[in-house]
Amino acid sequence: MTPGDLGRTAALVPAAGRGERLGPGAPKALRPLGGIPMLVHAVRALAASRVVDLVVVAAPEDDVEAVASMLADQEFSAEVVVVTGGPTRQDSVARALLGLPDDIDVVLVHDAARPLVPAEVVGSVVSAVRSGHPAVVPGLPVVDTIKQVDAACDVERTVDRESLRAIQTPQGFDRAVLQRAHAAADLDAVATDDAGLVERLGTRVHVVPGHEEAFKVTTPLDVVIAEAILARRRAAGAV
Ligand code: CTP
Ligand code: MG
Repeated sequence: MTPGDLGRTAALVPAAGRGERLGPGAPKALRPLGGIPMLVHAVRALAASRVVDLVVVAAPEDDVEAVASMLADQEFSAEVVVVTGGPTRQDSVARALLGLPDDIDVVLVHDAARPLVPAEVVGSVVSAVRSGHPAVVPGLPVVDTIKQVDAACDVERTVDRESLRAIQTPQGFDRAVLQRAHAAADLDAVATDDAGLVERLGTRVHVVPGHEEAFKVTTPLDVVIAEAILARRRAAGAV
């Protein structure tokens, strides 16, 4: 991609996980926060950025129709389509990548499990890709001290925290780069994020500032935090 290219931007939303760490219940993306499914929050956040033209949701295999009708009932300022997700996150993203329209030149990948990402983060990732970075991820400095341990749980070393970043989504890519990365992906070494696949190609990945509210809802405590953020936004009249 060279600065000035005028294609459209798509956001792929892997939403096909079970949410096992959240405990028993519906697939995580369909569980409510403030009475609204997490996936709806995530799609709204992407659309609210005004820099996303198309959203492709990878839904749990058994819930594709339910997800499609749930999203069809909502007004979004972006086109939304639903595809069937796969057994791993990487597979769900690969399926969402298939069949993108030709005029899409920037692709974001955003976890449905990060429903409260601020629009500014989405905008800054897209801007960085459009200004010439082939792969862009939002990241935050790590606050805990990180130690590497051996199999017996004895500390081997303390990692230099200054050079670490905790990486979030949306991650943004030149479309051709992301497609090459997925085409080259090793199914036996599944990556936990898309930038990880791009790194394996030897392509440079750039980090822009992330945001605390772009955190991933993983455990029951995260739901408490997400509900508190929503309540604060509602009290401030922001939603
Ligand atoms: N995801 C997906 N397809 C899968 C697995 C995960 O689309 N087969 C999505 C999830 O829906 C989520 C994102 O990838 O939006 C990040 O994954 P994670 O937080 O691990 O969610 P789950 O896999 O649902 O949770 P858990 O690992 O606790 O079961
Ligand atoms: Mg998972």
